[in-house]
Amino acid sequence: MPSTSSTGPALVATFAIVFALGLASCTSKSEPVEDKAAPSTEPVAEKVELPPAPVDFPPMKVPAGNRQSPEKIALGHQLFFDVRMSVDGSRSCYSCHQNEHGNGGETPLAVGAKQKQLTRHSPVIWNTGFFEAFYWGGRAGSLEAQAKGAWGGGNMGVGKENLAAKAAELAQIKGYQQQFKKVFPDEGMTPETIAKAISAYERTLICSDTAYDRYAKGDDNAFTEQQKQGWALFMGKGQCAVCHAPPLFSSAMGVPGGLYYNVGIGTAGRPADEVDIGRAKISEQDADWAAFKVPSLRNVSKSAPYFHDGSVPTLAEAVAVMATGGIDNKNKTPLLADRGMSEEELGAIVAFLGALDCGKLEQPDLPK
Ligand code: HEC
Ligand code: HEC
Repeated sequence: MPSTSSTGPALVATFAIVFALGLASCTSKSEPVEDKAAPSTEPVAEKVELPPAPVDFPPMKVPAGNRQSPEKIALGHQLFFDVRMSVDGSRSCYSCHQNEHGNGGETPLAVGAKQKQLTRHSPVIWNTGFFEAFYWGGRAGSLEAQAKGAWGGGNMGVGKENLAAKAAELAQIKGYQQQFKKVFPDEGMTPETIAKAISAYERTLICSDTAYDRYAKGDDNAFTEQQKQGWALFMGKGQCAVCHAPPLFSSAMGVPGGLYYNVGIGTAGRPADEVDIGRAKISEQDADWAAFKVPSLRNVSKSAPYFHDGSVPTLAEAVAVMATGGIDNKNKTPLLADRGMSEEELGAIVAFLGALDCGKLEQPDLPK
């Protein structure tokens, strides 16, 4: 397991170098060619130097045993939206990852089937296929494992030991039976093939056409002036990109095992033994105490409330928490500090984050 403390500084160093190089090359490119004969009509005020905006995503890793196909994806799409997956017909996967809530959760803490109170907030699932560890603490190593976890666990309430029986029950639905025969001819409808189909669908939830992406591809009008200011602050003074590096806006994406930091959420005014210890539950290392996976900030303007416990109701407050150094506790990451930003600067960052809005999941027709 990569430990938070050893990967963090290395990343910062890399980032600092990349950023410095980027700025340097940017400056040299924009150096005006001197033409003394023609006086410039440009305003005298210096333009803000904007950081380079990366646009290309790394390739998404797809497990060899679960190749994508249009039929499989269509099947997963239906299952993701089907409340018949849950123990009591009350919930689908989509119930906690809805468009109205930015495809994260509505309530601060999720409520599972049979009204079971869960302990964490539902994360945004756009671009989730780029992660290599899932959940806030990274306890699932694949989307397939995550899907079975959510389905068998409190979210859908079926129970790990009852998944095979539930799969057999769903196989009574003609439309599923026929599709599974086609997509998984040897296996049919089992907990494994159901999890594979859902994961194949999730790997198609790619958010790559935001205002940010249009700006990064050269459309200068895709950002407002305030968003440009926010973008520069996000990359520069705020040092947000140390952990939320563009274009995915989570440096944990594409990193085997993920990346986890303690920013202090959930630690204030609580005895240590009542704190959600996050990554430490998996790694059993003190360095990971109350550390959580870096979420992507794509779609963040729509996904209130915020953080692993949903404890912060608005984006403005969430940005303020991060920009002022997080919440002090015995294990807070040194990578977060008070960046001394004005209200106006914080507002610009919030405006910039609005340039990361994603699309919507489509409701499929469900088989009978
Ligand atoms: C009752 C609400 C609820 C339901 C139903 C639900 N989820 Fe979630 N989902 C959550 C919560 C809460 C988490 C974070 C849990 C944690 O970190 O411990 C989560 C995490 C995830 C993640 C991990 C994302 C990441 O960034 O690591 C994925 C993917 C996901 N859910 C997909 C699904 C799928 C697929 C289903 C259906 C099989 C499903 N969810 C059903 C609430 C729900
Ligand atoms: C040291 C790494 C790090 C830095 C630097 C950092 N963040 Fe974060 N950010 C995180 C982690 C980890 C979380 C999740 C914490 C949790 O839920 O307990 C997070 C969560 C967030 C969230 C909530 C997202 C959600 O879906 O709930 C926002 C908004 C955010 N950060 C914005 C920023 C901004 C703006 C900056 C710069 C001022 C910044 N972050 C700097 C690591 C970082």
